[in-house]
Amino acid sequence: MEKGAKIFVAGHQGIIGEALVRRLREDGHTNLLLRTSPELNLLDQKAVSYFFSTYKPEYVFLAAGKVGGILANSTYPAEFIYINLQIQNNVIHCAFESGVKKLLFLGSPCMYPKFCQQPMKEEYLLTGPIEPTNEPYAIAKIAGVKMCQSYNRQYGTNFMPVIPADVYGTNDDFSDSGHVVPSLIRRFHEAMTNGSNSITLWGTGKPRREFLYADDLSEALIFLMDVYDGSEIINVGTGYDTSVAELARSIKKMVGFDGKIIYDKTKPDGMPRRLLDVSRITSLGWRPKTGLVEGLELTYAWYKQCKMSNKDS
Ligand SMILES: NC(=O)c1ccc[n+]([C@@H]2O[C@H](COP(=O)([O-])OP(=O)(O)OC[C@H]3O[C@@H](n4cnc5c(N)ncnc54)[C@H](OP(=O)(O)O)[C@@H]3O)[C@@H](O)[C@H]2O)c1
Repeated sequence: MEKGAKIFVAGHQGIIGEALVRRLREDGHTNLLLRTSPELNLLDQKAVSYFFSTYKPEYVFLAAGKVGGILANSTYPAEFIYINLQIQNNVIHCAFESGVKKLLFLGSPCMYPKFCQQPMKEEYLLTGPIEPTNEPYAIAKIAGVKMCQSYNRQYGTNFMPVIPADVYGTNDDFSDSGHVVPSLIRRFHEAMTNGSNSITLWGTGKPRREFLYADDLSEALIFLMDVYDGSEIINVGTGYDTSVAELARSIKKMVGFDGKIIYDKTKPDGMPRRLLDVSRITSLGWRPKTGLVEGLELTYAWYKQCKMSNKDS
């Protein structure tokens, strides 16, 4: 991407979009097109069409969507399928119509089959049934991948489907609707400050997950936008996973919580394991820089800082 190229980051206030914008600016990109959802509702086809035909972005990072953990996915399945399908339909189609040079679409590891062979290679997509708790979200995301690939095949566009591991970092959603890392950080922090004796977590603690720091992902996405052309999916991860129980123990230690961790085994675990095979992106020359402990500390520091500034204001 040329330094003055017009780059639209859809979802620039989200965890991934915010890290992307920070990184693009650090890299000297000056012509970023950024819109909040009240300024440009990506569910509104006419508004999206007007935006693309008027501003003519050259590159698009599609980092907008409805995102959440297992609780949110189970509670709002209709929103997860509708919002993600609608946003990607509008953005991908209008990107084609307005002649965008390259678009990067973000999929999710939960698109792979529930009992997928590990680590999950890109070609394992659609080789088995999906974990039911996140099926509506995963089906929408699979449609997005197929849309990129179909537009490339029929119209010769350059739309790239990328599957990142579970992302965490600054600017995350620390509420109960969020993903496992931010919600555990908040819950352990609150348990520690309230002097609680125990904390109860959903499931058995046995599922294994791969966590990628958002700043590492943003670097990978810009790298792919620069060096990669093609319809083949690219996984982006660390190549290492950890169990939810190990993650919880690390966060407990980091936060300084002395109480007990209890597992509510009546609650669902989700996919048993989610580890991406990262040989494709590794062979292109990219590797992450931030280890899990370091990433958790940076995220916790940001969370505490935000709490302090909210208190002050
Ligand atoms: N987080 C992960 O672990 C992860 C992993 C793999 C893939 N992904 C994918 O990466 C993408 C970004 O995820 P994220 O975690 O960064 O999400 P996030 O933090 O929840 O941010 C979502 C962004 O989407 C925007 N958005 C939502 N509805 C919109 C609408 N109707 N119109 C315009 N903008 C809208 C939001 O804008 P406002 O703030 O203005 O409302 C926000 O900036 C998603 O497609 C997700 O599926 C995420």
